[in-house]
Amino acid sequence: MTAPVLEVRDLHVEIPLPHGRLHAVRGVSLAVDAGESVGLVGESGSGKSLTLRALLGLLPRPAKITSGTVLIDGEDVTGLPAKRLRRKLTDTMAMIFQDSLTALNPVHRVGDQIAETPLRRLGKSRGEAKSIAVDLMREVGIADPERRYELYPHELSGGMRQRICIAIALSTKPRLILADEPTTALDVTIQAQVLALLRQLRRDEHVGLLLVSHDLAVVSQTCSRLYVMYAGKIAESGRLPDLITAPEHPYTFSLLRSVPDPDHRAARLLAIPGQPPDLSETVLGCSFAPRCPFVADECRTAEPEPVPTASGHSACLRTETARTWPMLITGEGAAQW
Ligand SMILES: Nc1ncnc2c1ncn2[C@@H]1O[C@H](COP(=O)(O)OP(=O)(O)OP(=O)(O)O)[C@@H](O)[C@H]1O
Ligand SMILES: [Mg+2]
Repeated sequence: MTAPVLEVRDLHVEIPLPHGRLHAVRGVSLAVDAGESVGLVGESGSGKSLTLRALLGLLPRPAKITSGTVLIDGEDVTGLPAKRLRRKLTDTMAMIFQDSLTALNPVHRVGDQIAETPLRRLGKSRGEAKSIAVDLMREVGIADPERRYELYPHELSGGMRQRICIAIALSTKPRLILADEPTTALDVTIQAQVLALLRQLRRDEHVGLLLVSHDLAVVSQTCSRLYVMYAGKIAESGRLPDLITAPEHPYTFSLLRSVPDPDHRAARLLAIPGQPPDLSETVLGCSFAPRCPFVADECRTAEPEPVPTASGHSACLRTETARTWPMLITGEGAAQW
């Protein structure tokens, strides 16, 4: 069996605070196979962006990795010297951020920004690099690319700019694209077009995708497997649609309940009561326990480790009761949610 393109094992990220430290990522493990589209989903502040930035060596100061292993094609790259690590990362993967306006350089023409990698890293001539950039612009669905090549970022719409960012990402010929909320700043129609483009790249070019979003609807439209993150940990992982139809962690269940479902307009949109834990303090037991209606005594003391389930893994000690949750929730339990 070939090794995953990207694997992260037991990653911990901490942020020093004036009085203590914030343990923002608490032992995340995940993997993406070649050509696979994987989602990382969880509410705001759960540690998704820090996880992605940590594995790329792009953590904001003063955050730092305190332990964990990153493997690329099965090779442990954790201890590599910075320059070799950067080379290895940029040869394998590319990143797309949420805010395309700040991701692009405002004083350079968008076409030149796409042509930069072919010119500088791949040793192409100016003319060849321009023609590669124009082809990439066409590939990401930009009409009239020769003319638009000459424009500056502020002269393009948000959706167009995000397509430019995807073209820049593709210019490095990555096998994996890491995308952090790439459509959050876009309106729904443009969002759907950008997601369709990412799906098409996977299908046609076999480019893998690790898509980070707080929006379960976005990742479930685009990915074949999901990791659900809560309070710095992976609560549950599994294949779609298993994870959607039969979630095994109460947090996944509650995330699903908070997505509007056009087929069940009568169902209430339920917010999850309570707040995520303060990760600057030690969390005893399951971090979701204070908000979970299925909590048992053991959940408050034991630190749950991910256990294999039918479709993936779940870090819930009460997983065996999973199949009965939908019934409980729509029955008496609904009042609690
Ligand atoms: N530079 C920083 N300084 C201090 N705290 C930070 C910093 N960056 C992130 N954090 C904290 O770390 C936690 C995880 O942040 P992260 O950005 O990874 O969340 P996220 O899951 O990406 O959320 P969102 O969906 O809002 O993007 C949050 O509590 C956040 O406030
Ligand atoms: Mg984020």
